[in-house]
Amino acid sequence: MEVAFRHCRNGTLRRPPAYRRQAINEGATKVRKKKLMSQDPSPPIAIRLVNVKKYFKDRDVEALGGVSLEVLRGEFITLIGPSGSGKSTLLELLGDIGDEGGPTDGEISIEGKTPEELRKTRGYGIAFQESTLFPWYRVFENCLLPFRIAKSRIPGEQQVRRIEMLLEMVGLDKKFWSYYPRELSGGMQQRVAIVRALALDPPLLLMDEPFGALDDLTRKSMQMLLLDIWSKTKKTILMVTHSISEACFMSDRVVVLSHRPGRIARIVSIPLDRPRERSMSETKAFARICSMVREALGSGEILEEDGSIKE
Ligand SMILES: Nc1ncnc2c1ncn2[C@@H]1O[C@H](COP(=O)(O)OP(=O)(O)OP(=O)(O)O)[C@@H](O)[C@H]1O
Ligand SMILES: [Mg+2]
Repeated sequence: MEVAFRHCRNGTLRRPPAYRRQAINEGATKVRKKKLMSQDPSPPIAIRLVNVKKYFKDRDVEALGGVSLEVLRGEFITLIGPSGSGKSTLLELLGDIGDEGGPTDGEISIEGKTPEELRKTRGYGIAFQESTLFPWYRVFENCLLPFRIAKSRIPGEQQVRRIEMLLEMVGLDKKFWSYYPRELSGGMQQRVAIVRALALDPPLLLMDEPFGALDDLTRKSMQMLLLDIWSKTKKTILMVTHSISEACFMSDRVVVLSHRPGRIARIVSIPLDRPRERSMSETKAFARICSMVREALGSGEILEEDGSIKE
């Protein structure tokens, strides 16, 4: 049995003490603490952000004003906030791909690594609003690129099998595998981009508005596809979106950022069952959850360090 973590309002996760976890797990009432400490598994925290700030010196812009957040391994988190609230900046800091270095202040740890270590060990996959596929490579070559860039020692035959498996998983018909990106629809391109992000089987997926450029119908089917991939692969997902309903429908928790400089205004836990079904988004409960996020977006309130709301 998994021990439930309690989400605190400031984004951190509070764990019951080890002896209580063990007691809960084994249904025991009295358990010796010493014995338990030696059996204590490492906490499944995938991402830990501690008071992360980002100031772009060149432009004199304070993008992030201090973000603290803990994300469990395998959690699906969406980030939502006004334009310019630092959502992309936060993903860039996690992926160590910003052109102005790391955070100005604070700490980031992902699977126990710094963002630089994570990048060097290909510990994450990333997808953007535009698919960013290379136009001169065919679909299959685009998908194999991460292996080439990483100088992977995985035998070529295995690489090919993995990409075939992933392309089948995202439901891209075989006949398109030899097409160039320009010959695909936007939804197909995003499917390929997701395959590329998953090629090296990283534990973490970073996604910056991956469905932002798609029409409504395609977007909804891509949402279901991503949820399906997530449930099969157990990745930790951090996804930026501008859509309140997308955030509430897909994630375990919605992290709402305030106006620039971005801070966590509120974290809304989504109490909907898994697997998510489209009909859930028609319910009153879903409408209530969405209005909580909408209010948090509009209020501009900021949480104090202790989790209380600053007026
Ligand atoms: N490389 C950079 N150099 C200077 N300023 C930057 C840089 N990247 C982002 N900024 C600034 O940081 C702020 C946050 O930008 P960011 O792109 O993170 O916002 P966002 O929340 O992703 O917005 P949107 O929803 O519009 O995508 C903005 O004011 C932006 O101008
Ligand atoms: Mg952005």
